Amino acid sequence: MKKIRCGIAGVVGRGQIYVDPMLACDFAEITAICDLNEEGLKEYAEKIGGNVKCFTNYEEMIDSGLLDLVVVATPIPFHVPQSVYALERDINVVCEVPAAETVEECKTLYKAVKKSKAQYMMAENCNFYKMFIVLDGIIKAGILGEVHYAEGQYLHCLGLPSKDEWRSKSLWGANYCTHNLGPMLQWFDNERIAKICCIGSGRHQKFKDADGEIKREKANVLLCKTESGRLLQVRLDFDTPTPYMLPFEVSGSNGRAIIRATSPVEESYIHLTSNDFDQTHYSEEWKSLQYFEKQFLSESWNEVCEKIPNTGHARADYVMVWDILKALRDGKKLPVDIDMAMNMTLPGILSKVSLERGGEWIDIPDLNED
Ligand SMILES: NC(=O)c1ccc[n+]([C@@H]2O[C@H](COP(=O)([O-])OP(=O)(O)OC[C@H]3O[C@@H](n4cnc5c(N)ncnc54)[C@H](O)[C@@H]3O)[C@@H](O)[C@H]2O)c1
Repeated sequence: MKKIRCGIAGVVGRGQIYVDPMLACDFAEITAICDLNEEGLKEYAEKIGGNVKCFTNYEEMIDSGLLDLVVVATPIPFHVPQSVYALERDINVVCEVPAAETVEECKTLYKAVKKSKAQYMMAENCNFYKMFIVLDGIIKAGILGEVHYAEGQYLHCLGLPSKDEWRSKSLWGANYCTHNLGPMLQWFDNERIAKICCIGSGRHQKFKDADGEIKREKANVLLCKTESGRLLQVRLDFDTPTPYMLPFEVSGSNGRAIIRATSPVEESYIHLTSNDFDQTHYSEEWKSLQYFEKQFLSESWNEVCEKIPNTGHARADYVMVWDILKALRDGKKLPVDIDMAMNMTLPGILSKVSLERGGEWIDIPDLNED
């Protein structure tokens, strides 16, 4: 069988997480890597070995004829131009988060994906966390009943402003909300988010860059209403000095699930109105979500657990790459398609408009209607 030929742009940064699972995969090979950092590029070429070809120019890598799949793991401002360049040449794209920076860019990307013979995926790795997959199974099986509300937080003290100028410029409002919206939209069958509002915590980080002063709310809360009126809430806080946390809650007609993810461990609970739970008035109980692991953990998870220790966002990165390669091998749809990517990206982009208008509700454009 012909191997899937993979290229990684930004291999010295976030792109490096793709290297180990691709090297471990017997139906894929890394044929090209690209980065502006030539020293780092050399180190990765040595690690990968074989005939891997190095590029400092992305377009040259794409035009080399060496690729079936490119990973775009460069800074956010490159995501759309680099994804579109590959899609126009019918090369499959897996792009890091978020998919785009502006509504215009979303429209350009959306059109390019619809026109291309290749597939596009946004690499939302949080969709591949163990307990999020288990909870997805529980919800899809109807055990939690109809879900009507979910909340997710991303608490990650990034120490902004960062040494990388793009990061200081490109992270504002709630536009880094994909790590929360990703899992929650899976649980909500990717129902389209129709409107959002965003409110800040009223205290600001202030710093200067080449273009002048940047002022950013220390924490933001994003509210999202789906087309049928269900509610999702995201809280982003990059500034409070605490360890990384990714907690979630979901409410359904049969109960509530809670996941307190703190890489690399997680605590997770579920309460249900089922016979498995003590329903006497004074002894309502919670069970660990682990109770459902055997039933709902994906095949890739079990395979990956045998391969690697608990590293890389609690193995989620590895499982994601595994699922991408298996989908391409089997001619299946990549796990996070353009519609889901837009459903995660547009609310974040428009959070800035809502913030500027004091928390006004903003309609999200339906790109399908254009
Ligand atoms: N999913 C996650 O958990 C996660 C974590 C970190 C970063 N990210 C995303 O990954 C992306 C990269 O983040 P990072 O922290 O690695 O950024 P970074 O600034 O470290 O850049 C990544 C690499 O891209 C290279 N690069 C920059 N411009 C390039 C270009 N035009 N062509 C080729 N290479 C280029 C840089 O030299 C660097 O090695 C961002 O979009 C970020 O949002 C996602």
